[in-house]
Amino acid sequence: MTNKASNKKILFGVTGSIAAYKAPSIVRCFKQKDYDVQVVLTSGGSRFTTPLTLSTVSGNTVLQSMWDDKGTWHNHVRLAKESDVLIIAPASANCLAKLANGLCDEMLYALYLSATCPVIVAPAMDLDMWKHSSVQRNVAQLAQDGVHVLEPATGFLASGLEGQGRLPDVEVITAFAEDVLSQSAKAS
Ligand SMILES: Cc1cc2nc3c(=O)[nH]c(=O)nc-3n(C[C@H](O)[C@H](O)[C@H](O)COP(=O)(O)O)c2cc1C
Repeated sequence: MTNKASNKKILFGVTGSIAAYKAPSIVRCFKQKDYDVQVVLTSGGSRFTTPLTLSTVSGNTVLQSMWDDKGTWHNHVRLAKESDVLIIAPASANCLAKLANGLCDEMLYALYLSATCPVIVAPAMDLDMWKHSSVQRNVAQLAQDGVHVLEPATGFLASGLEGQGRLPDVEVITAFAEDVLSQSAKAS
């Protein structure tokens, strides 16, 4: 596995988990490895991190709403087709439910439906949310649909509880993504 990855394009989705505050560090790590990173932020995600921070660390304008007041058209279909991987970290329970059921009321979820590249989700939530049968059902559905699920880590959670639900460390996320990218390069 190489450290430099010029030409590889990452679509990086950030959703409304408290762990979204860690997303800029993950984006920065991919940039340091020379990936081209296009961030897509959901409305929930923007409550926990800012487009300005994500734009600064990625070097690209952050995509947010599908409904732009300026009447600008974003070709999300082309964006999804041109990317080498779609990574959603953190992925909220709401995000998992929408992906598993084909809902696309946000730019990120429309991109997911248009994407033909490998997709990685890194769920992050409180332990009881993670254990909930509806969340587990959605995760199982996504795995069946070919999505690569990076399971949450176990440890101290934002709620003060301890258990499974933490967003894995940045090194774990980047290694997982590079593994998926190298598998897809071998397959093509
Ligand atoms: C303080 C706070 C923390 C939250 N943390 C999480 C979380 O860690 N994981 C999660 O799945 N949802 C969490 N939620 C709920 C989501 O933010 C909510 O479902 C939101 O609609 C998700 O938005 P999105 O689909 O636009 O990303 C949290 C909500 C609040 C108010």
